[in-house]
Amino acid sequence: MATPAAAAVPADAPATPLTWTDNFVLGFAPMDDTHREFVACLAAVQTADDAALPDALDALAAHLAAHFAQEDQWMRETEFPPRDCHIDEHAAVLESMRAVREKVAEGDLANGRRLAQALADWFPGHADYLDSALSHWMFKRRFGGKPVVIRREAAGLGR
Ligand SMILES: [Fe+2]
Ligand SMILES: [Fe+2]
Repeated sequence: MATPAAAAVPADAPATPLTWTDNFVLGFAPMDDTHREFVACLAAVQTADDAALPDALDALAAHLAAHFAQEDQWMRETEFPPRDCHIDEHAAVLESMRAVREKVAEGDLANGRRLAQALADWFPGHADYLDSALSHWMFKRRFGGKPVVIRREAAGLGR
């Protein structure tokens, strides 16, 4: 049986929030700015107490809708060749967010915390494999070359 002390610690206690690292820099500034905002919105959900969680989740949902709409628009406007799987992945995340917000509205906050953790696990791979290709594509169309990305760790400048 759980002791009162143990019971006071929620099973889905906030995880270590996702933090920005230079590894997330892709080189197309408008996308990098959006990704910084994503990390901040997600961290706000991950560190929210129960009372603040629904509003933080709403703010993250609004961010994601705009974030994905912008990337989808870039892909469609420029006829980015591998756009379909990227657009589909965005749609799947928005659908998960919609379903989870319904659960949270019914009082199931743990569902919201699990989604936040899932997004923290998902984002680095999405940025590396899908957003980075789009970043290079957009940079090349606007500036005629591949972005030069200087990361502090890679340049031996420490953290
Ligand atoms: Fe993105
Ligand atoms: Fe994306």
